[in-house]
Amino acid sequence: MAEHRDQWNSRTAFIMAAVGSAVGLGNVWRFPYVAYESGGGAFLIPYFTALFTAGIPMLILEMGLGQRLHRGAPLAFGSVKKPLQWFGWWAAGLSAAIVIYYSTILAWACVYLKHTLTLAWGTDPQAFFFDQVLHRSEGPSDIGAPVWPLVIGMALTWLAIYLILRKGVRSVSKVVLITVPLPMILLAVLLVRGLTLPGAMDGIRYFLTPNFAMLLEPKIWLKAYGQIFFSLSLASGVMIGYGSYLGKKAEINNSALITGLANCGTSFFAGFVVFSMLGYLANVQGVSVADVTTSGTGLAFVVFPTAISQLPALNVLFGLIFFVTLLTLGIDSAFALQEAFTTGFHDKWQIPPEKLARYFVLVAFPLSLLFVTRGGYYWFDIVDKWVCDFGLVISGLIQCLVIGYLYPIQDFRKSLNEQSEIPLGQWWIVMLRFVTPAVLTIILIMNLKTEWLNSYENYPRWATLIGGWGTLIIWIVLGYILWKTPGTESPKLKTEN
Ligand code: PFF
Repeated sequence: MAEHRDQWNSRTAFIMAAVGSAVGLGNVWRFPYVAYESGGGAFLIPYFTALFTAGIPMLILEMGLGQRLHRGAPLAFGSVKKPLQWFGWWAAGLSAAIVIYYSTILAWACVYLKHTLTLAWGTDPQAFFFDQVLHRSEGPSDIGAPVWPLVIGMALTWLAIYLILRKGVRSVSKVVLITVPLPMILLAVLLVRGLTLPGAMDGIRYFLTPNFAMLLEPKIWLKAYGQIFFSLSLASGVMIGYGSYLGKKAEINNSALITGLANCGTSFFAGFVVFSMLGYLANVQGVSVADVTTSGTGLAFVVFPTAISQLPALNVLFGLIFFVTLLTLGIDSAFALQEAFTTGFHDKWQIPPEKLARYFVLVAFPLSLLFVTRGGYYWFDIVDKWVCDFGLVISGLIQCLVIGYLYPIQDFRKSLNEQSEIPLGQWWIVMLRFVTPAVLTIILIMNLKTEWLNSYENYPRWATLIGGWGTLIIWIVLGYILWKTPGTESPKLKTEN
């Protein structure tokens, strides 16, 4: 058991890596829009409630669990009860699934880096994105050929991930010192540009004008929890994996608090960047801000390029800044996801980091090519939806119940408090045992109901069955195989502290 395990170079490196994994594309292309359509400034109330009642308690749980057991999700859960190793592999499998499709966005951003040089999207960025960049086919059944520029972008993305992970957490410790602050600085540059444009204030007003009446709608509260969950990279094994590289005495409670606040602060900040630009765009086009507002791929690859073209000067420079921001935001979330998965292999079969990084990329890269075919966009959309709306919610629910009821959680709380300057009260246990599971159950039921009534985006049911449910089910099978394959066992739980 006295096996060697790498550790973070410093506490700062650990916090930076955790922040890097949390802060990602979700902060820029999802938060501002969700906030805007869910009550503007008033949304901050459910959002911070979700942060303190579910986000931070779960961050503490995940980081602390990894640290105590010095294992990634599979063997860590196996310590609680042997068969739970199966669940641990399933949760880590979700992170493998996420990184395989998340890399697609980075591939698109790589390709846009080139198109920015000539502002190639011209006057119709939407048609450009779907027709010239994605060469999107008619529907998921028409997969079509790979789109070569995207394949190159994808290859570059995986090469970067391989190079960063091959030396394990020691190199991650160094890389995050760049990939975390850099996008923040670039966002600040974009903010200054945005705020000094005409119409910016209209945009910000749209973003922030509080609509307190909306707080009466339960849907808004559920959205806040969903957003917190995805944004903090919870329930995917990421924070357990990162926590497992901490020393025994490392402080957790405050690190989780800093990670949570830094992530939400970045989201809020990104809201100003996005909405100042949208305000300007609306002003130029003579339409209302509501007409140019959108989220997801549309925001990053259609609306932002439009705004970039409309800037009075230095368009190419600001275009480059924007796409480099996306790349640096996304890359540390991507390698955190891969690490969350491969760390289980290191724990169980002692495979060194370089080999793990190589083997994973050799399998994941070909699989990710599905998403850069002509029909890839549809499959990307389906897998994303299912993994986030069903996979992570189920995983978070099981995780809370397992740790809340099968793990010596009072001892856990006491030992966390001994290590920390910020003590956790009984409320922490109440959140994990009752509040978070209740909210997650409601979210799950609502998501299932919505999907039952209307197939997502009207995709044919067979496509969501294969791409959506298939992704979740295949990991039940693969997780079982990995659990049953002989290797090092989970460490025994020490109950007393
Ligand atoms: N938190 C990242 C974002 O907001 O973009 C995305 C993400 C990373 C989600 C890791 C889930 C995850 F496990």
